[in-house]
Amino acid sequence: MRGCGFLKGTQMNSMNNEKTLSGKSKYKPIVYITGLTAALAGLLFGLDIGVISGALPFMGVEFGSSTLQLGDIVSALLWGATFGALISGYFSKKYGRKYTLLIAAVVFALGSIGCAVAPSADILIGTRFFLGIAVGIASFTAPLYLSEIAPKTIRGSMISMYQLLITIGIVLAFSSDTYFATYAQIFGHLGGHWRMMFAVLAIPSIIMFIAIYFLPESPRWLLLKGRKSEANAVLSKIRNTEEEVQSEMNEIAETLKVKHDGFKLFAGSRNYRKVIFLGIGLQIIQQLTGINVVMYYAPKIFEIAGFVAVAEQMWGTVLVGCVNVLATFIAIAFVDKLGRKPIMYAGFVVMGISMCMVGIMFKAGLDSHPALTSASAVHPQQVMTFTAIAFLMLFIIGFAMSAGPIIWVLCSEIYPLSGRDLGITASTATNWIVNGIVALTFLSLLEHFGHGNTFLLYGLLEFVFIIFFLLYVPETKGISLEKIEENLMSGRRLKDIGQ
Ligand code: BGC
Repeated sequence: MRGCGFLKGTQMNSMNNEKTLSGKSKYKPIVYITGLTAALAGLLFGLDIGVISGALPFMGVEFGSSTLQLGDIVSALLWGATFGALISGYFSKKYGRKYTLLIAAVVFALGSIGCAVAPSADILIGTRFFLGIAVGIASFTAPLYLSEIAPKTIRGSMISMYQLLITIGIVLAFSSDTYFATYAQIFGHLGGHWRMMFAVLAIPSIIMFIAIYFLPESPRWLLLKGRKSEANAVLSKIRNTEEEVQSEMNEIAETLKVKHDGFKLFAGSRNYRKVIFLGIGLQIIQQLTGINVVMYYAPKIFEIAGFVAVAEQMWGTVLVGCVNVLATFIAIAFVDKLGRKPIMYAGFVVMGISMCMVGIMFKAGLDSHPALTSASAVHPQQVMTFTAIAFLMLFIIGFAMSAGPIIWVLCSEIYPLSGRDLGITASTATNWIVNGIVALTFLSLLEHFGHGNTFLLYGLLEFVFIIFFLLYVPETKGISLEKIEENLMSGRRLKDIGQ
């Protein structure tokens, strides 16, 4: 990922440093350890997103929940996350990034246990909301911390690592769900083991707490609070030379001279308002791809497609998670070589075709054939089922190589420094709100419009989004944040602010 020099006064220094950094010198191992530890918040994010798909059928049986109530159980976490994202700005500014992440780890642990022991569906909705607060705080604070601690030249890959850990979290949750579901089946306790699926999530939360406890505080936040010598000490630990430390100290100090008042900027600058809406639009698009329809309801989709055995549905779901992890590497490998937009176009075309094909197959009777059994001979409809599953996997590949990581990367690049907090709050909260709406409406959409039409609707939307990219989204590969800001504030079209 490219570096991003900030300020005119220190630009030469920065460039010299980047040369040094991209030349021989390697980063200290502590940089990677720190990055990986903070990215653990992504793991927890993924675990909590992933756990529900395997748990849902069992809790549905235990509580006798209606479709609407199941939708509420799924989406309560998302509303909590929205709330968490909105309050994070306050906490991370007042108490620091590190302590905010520690608070998130505690809420993660308490929330997981709360869900595991919930005696009724209503209480479960409440505990899922509480758990969601942790997810929302993590999704705001971890990328912010990463961007403040990472050397400029690898900032982008560190943010992508956060997305990678989200996907790993999802697949781990799918796998542990599968383990507990299989165990439940063997012993005939259908409904009993969804509680264990939640309870085990307390373990990574505790690990996250301990690991984050040993992290340094963000030097940027320390300087914001006037704690100059502590900021200097942190930078000395994580940078290679004294020259780099001093250069970065100067950059941060210069940055802090700019008034950080996003609200004033919002009221006074049309250009800033435009970019706020771009960030919001990008996150709406990320969620309306329908990715979480697959993430939350994968077993249900497998069931509709004819896999009646719960174990088959669960293993199919694990496969979805693995494909999601692996395809994320495509984005990591190409985002700085080909650019953001070509990858986005490719990913959205793949997603559009895949979703439409699944929709068409449902319309052709994918969901109306007898259940698949391993004993039955190969039947044309089985071929259709496996083709539909293949398209579902292709959809996941399309998302993981494009919208998954790149929308988070773009949202961290487009805002001017003085309005970054508000911009990221607005786009992150939007991500969760739309995530909640999708979760809430999917089962009802299936009921009212039918399986085929629902998937076709999502598929067609992908093509509409391509038009949005063509018209409004800038290519930000290889350009400094400073230049993007200059272009934006001088009134260039959004699409051109990366030139
Ligand atoms: C999205 C999540 C999604 C995940 C899947 C993230 O970028 O924000 O909503 O569940 O990717 O990998």
